[in-house]
Amino acid sequence: MAHSKTKFDAVSAARTIFSLIRTDMDAVESEYERQISSNIQFLDHLGKYLKDSGGKRVRPALLLLSYRSVLSGEGEKDVSAVRLASVMEMLHTATLVHDDIIDNADRRRNRPSINSKFGNQTAVLIGDWLYMSAFETSLAERDLEILDILTRLTRLMTEGELIQLTVLGSTRLTVDDYFDILRRKTAYLFSACCEIGALLAGAPVGQREALRDYGLNLGMAFQLADDVLDFVADDGTLGKKAGVDLLEGKLTLPLLLYLEKNPEATKWLEDIMLNGAYGPLEREGLLEKLLSSGVIEETRRKAFSFAEAARKNLDVLQASEYRNALEEIPIYMIEREK
Ligand code: IPE
Ligand code: IPE
Ligand code: MG
Ligand code: MG
Repeated sequence: MAHSKTKFDAVSAARTIFSLIRTDMDAVESEYERQISSNIQFLDHLGKYLKDSGGKRVRPALLLLSYRSVLSGEGEKDVSAVRLASVMEMLHTATLVHDDIIDNADRRRNRPSINSKFGNQTAVLIGDWLYMSAFETSLAERDLEILDILTRLTRLMTEGELIQLTVLGSTRLTVDDYFDILRRKTAYLFSACCEIGALLAGAPVGQREALRDYGLNLGMAFQLADDVLDFVADDGTLGKKAGVDLLEGKLTLPLLLYLEKNPEATKWLEDIMLNGAYGPLEREGLLEKLLSSGVIEETRRKAFSFAEAARKNLDVLQASEYRNALEEIPIYMIEREK
């Protein structure tokens, strides 16, 4: 993740992947702009603020690539695919807005977060509004299977954030607990994007399940990479504060592995969490320890194994440029720098 060749590779891979669905993604931007606009002036202002702050748009891209990779007919659901791709970005944005309140985060996508700029009250409400607008739009499909996926997903994500909250600051969290949180708070959304793409394309059940599993493995790799980036990246590149997971009381895999090997570090880490701040040079010192003990590398390997599993899930799909793009994404996910 750190050296320039890797950076170039990840960026160029992303460019190739996105250029394949350029037209679709442009349509998603217009649709997203429509979905996030409101005739209530303040809401409209907040919607614009969120939309203009950007984001990687990974989830809509996944839905569209999944859709195109298994489409056999005329593409009569093209409009629905774009609409739902945008719905997934709305849901994702809603989780981010709420997540930033919970984490007390003041930066997101290189801008002040909604909570820090407009206050928690506004952030709660705009988050709710985004959820409900997304559901309203998805209802237009009149498709109960899609609604099943979306409502279950939203419940699981909320459970993920809630479980995380209950174990905040605990050094007794197990690696299994950690993976359970990851699956809920991040991976199911990826999985739902891929499954809905397959569903709209009318894919046979085997392909639909393969894409669903692909998304789940991909989501795990993605969040593991996010958790590593929190240690190794800087604020400017990430667009959000780095090094804050521990301060927020979130023990992610590198630290859990470190504690397994060095139980005597428990008190030290607990103190950092309690203070909500690092002492002088403490953050650098921690990173050095994590690097030299090999736990960052171990976490990257874990992310890599999820990425490999995701690639394998695609074996049942027919060869196509879309399948190739889906095969590239797992590596992009773990090599990315933001
Ligand atoms: C951030 O997701 C939340 C996580 C699951 C780590 P992204 O990294 O996809 O955020 P944006 O949309 O690009 O800002
Ligand atoms: C991301 O968790 C999960 C969400 C569902 C929003 P994080 O708390 O690690 O996400 P960031 O790092 O704030 O983007
Ligand atoms: Mg957060
Ligand atoms: Mg994070």
